[in-house]
Amino acid sequence: MGMFIVMEGIDGAGKSTQAKLLAEWFEEQGYETVLTKEPTDTAFGKLIRRLVLTGGREGIIDGARISHEAEALLFAADRAEHVHKLIKPSVEAGKVVISDRYFYSSLAYQWARGLDLGWLVDLNRFAIRPDLTVLLDLPVKESMKRINGRSIKTEFDKIAELQKKVRENYLQLAKRFPEVRIVNALADVEDIHNDIVALVEHEVLKK
Ligand code: TYD
Repeated sequence: MGMFIVMEGIDGAGKSTQAKLLAEWFEEQGYETVLTKEPTDTAFGKLIRRLVLTGGREGIIDGARISHEAEALLFAADRAEHVHKLIKPSVEAGKVVISDRYFYSSLAYQWARGLDLGWLVDLNRFAIRPDLTVLLDLPVKESMKRINGRSIKTEFDKIAELQKKVRENYLQLAKRFPEVRIVNALADVEDIHNDIVALVEHEVLKK
């Protein structure tokens, strides 16, 4: 059996950078590594980008053209394909799978949109649990500085409000799911990477 590690956090927390660095670290250790993300690049992920994330990163904030339930179902459908076609087979083949976002994103974001957490948990029950989920935690003020360039000025307050809710939700989820470990995302890229490697060594490799 391989390993399955997930990076989570609000927008601008540095997930993709850290996922890439961790994948490189595993490769250097001689592991066959699969670096992946959600929403995926499959037809489902493209549908999400078209229907939910229209207008770029801001689309998710302003409410999609579709209902919140349909949005949650689309993310879940994308995830089901991801789990069955890529994640599970790769882990079973002994590879290390690192995913930039997973079902915790659905819980944190779609819960923040007003959906029922219990329903979201049930909907995502098919999603195999990772060996480790790294929550890159960052104050919203800092994340807003980082994503500011990506967003329209008038949307700033709305985005900050949602990010705040999402961050709180992630911290709640860390209490509920023992595989979720919080890492301070304010530090330097290299320090954060070292923290994550230490967690991997301690929580996954030594088990
Ligand atoms: P993001 O990681 O920003 O994708 P990219 O950098 O490739 O554009 O994800 C896009 C948005 O989708 C992000 O704001 C979080 C949101 N999202 C959900 O609301 N629910 C989910 O289940 C997932 C996977 C993402």
